[in-house]
Amino acid sequence: MSWLYSLHTLGLDAILGRVHAPRPFRNRQYIPFPRAPAWRAKEMRKQQSIPTARFPSPNTRNLNADNMSQWIEGHVVGKHHWTDELYSLRIDAAVEPFQAGQFTRLALDIDGERVGRPYSYVNGPDERPLEFYFITIPHGPLTDRLRQLQIGDPIWVSARAGGFFTLAAVPDARNLWLFASGTARGVFLSHLKTEEPWRRFNKVILAHGVRTAGELTYQDEIARFARDHGDQFVYIPFVSREETDFALHGRIPDAIRDGRLARRAGIPLTATTCQVMICGNPDMVRDTTAVLEERGLKKNRRTEPGQITTENYW
Ligand SMILES: Cc1cc2nc3c(=O)[nH]c(=O)nc-3n(C[C@H](O)[C@H](O)[C@H](O)COP(=O)(O)OP(=O)(O)OC[C@H]3O[C@@H](n4cnc5c(N)ncnc54)[C@H](O)[C@@H]3O)c2cc1C
Ligand SMILES: NC(=O)c1ccc[n+]([C@@H]2O[C@H](COP(=O)([O-])OP(=O)(O)OC[C@H]3O[C@@H](n4cnc5c(N)ncnc54)[C@H](OP(=O)(O)O)[C@@H]3O)[C@@H](O)[C@H]2O)c1
Repeated sequence: MSWLYSLHTLGLDAILGRVHAPRPFRNRQYIPFPRAPAWRAKEMRKQQSIPTARFPSPNTRNLNADNMSQWIEGHVVGKHHWTDELYSLRIDAAVEPFQAGQFTRLALDIDGERVGRPYSYVNGPDERPLEFYFITIPHGPLTDRLRQLQIGDPIWVSARAGGFFTLAAVPDARNLWLFASGTARGVFLSHLKTEEPWRRFNKVILAHGVRTAGELTYQDEIARFARDHGDQFVYIPFVSREETDFALHGRIPDAIRDGRLARRAGIPLTATTCQVMICGNPDMVRDTTAVLEERGLKKNRRTEPGQITTENYW
C-alpha cells in the first residue's frame, strides 16, 4: 500500500504547488509544476499541514497534479467586500465539472512568476459564475493582490478541480455536522447548495467559528437554507473575541467538550448517530478532531470508515 500512499500524497502536494519550496521560501519563490519526486513530497508533508481529506471516493481518486496543471484564463465578473479583510470574487471561467467540496487553484502573474494557491468553490457544481471567498493575509503573496482585482480583470484558474472533501467520502449516518473556522465556511456553502446532504441526512448542523461578529458572512445564504429546509438545518455561529447575544462565545472544541454545542443544536453528538466534516485552521481541525476522538468518533479511512472527515487550509 505504501506506493499508493506516496501516489496520493504526491498528487495532493503537487496540486497545492507546495512541494518545491520549503516553508521559509514558499512565499518568495513559487514554482508549482512540474511534480517533485515522491521522497520530497513525503518530507514536505511531515513539515507542514496540508489538506488531509481522507477516504477518497472512486469519483475523485483519479484527480492528480497533472490534471490540475492546465491554467485557463478567467475574468472577474463580481466582487463583494464583507469587511476590511474579507471579500468574495465571482469569476467567469470555463472550468471542467467539479464536485461540491473540491477546490481549484487561482493564480496571478506577479513579478514574472505565476503565484497560485488552492481555493474552495463556494458556488454549487451547477452554478455559474464561479465564486470564491477570501481573507487578506498580512504580507500574504497572493491575497492582497486578489483583493485589488477589478471587474473585467483576468485571473488564472486551474481547469480541473482537486481534493477529496466531498460527500462521496462520507458514509451515511443520521446527522451531518459541519464545522468551519474563518473562510472555510465557503466550502460548506457549496455542499449545502446541492441536494445530497438534504437527501442523505436527517439533520444538517453547520457550526462556524469566527473572531468577530462581522465575519459571520453569507447570512442571505444561511437564511435561504433555513427557509428551504426548515428544522432539517441547524446553524450555530461562534464568535470568539466579542460577546454577542446570538452566537456561542469561544471555540468549537470547547463547546463540544462542555456540552454547549449539543444543547444549542438540540441533538446529541454521538459516534453512532453522526458524520462530521471539519475544515479550516489546522489547529481548529486538530483540536476538534481530538475532542471528538475522546467521545469515541474515529477518522474516516479508506480501509476503515469512521465518522470524521477533515481538510486543512494551511
Ligand atoms: C484545499 C485548500 C482550500 C483553500 N481554500 C481557501 C478559501 O476558500 N479561502 C481562503 O481564503 N483560503 C483558502 N485556502 C488558503 C489559501 O490557499 C491561501 O493559503 C491563502 O489565501 C493565503 O494566501 P497568501 O498567498 O496570501 O499567503 P500564504 O503564504 O498562502 O499563507 C500565509 C499564512 O496565512 C494563514 N492563512 C492562510 N490561509 C488562511 C485562511 N483562509 N484563513 C486564515 N488564515 C490563513 C496561514 O497562517 C498561512 O501560513 C485554502 C487552502 C487549501 C489547502
Ligand atoms: N479575523 C480578523 O479579524 C482578522 C483581521 C485582520 C487580519 N486577519 C488575519 O487573518 C488570519 C486569521 O484569519 P481568521 O480570523 O479568519 O482565522 P482564524 O485565526 O483561524 O480564526 C477563526 C476562528 O477559529 C478559531 N480558532 C483558532 N484556533 C482554534 C483552535 N485551535 N480550535 C478551535 N478554534 C480555533 C478562532 O478563535 P480565537 O479567536 O480564539 O483564536 C476564531 O474564532 C491571520 O493571518 C490574521 O492576521 C484576521
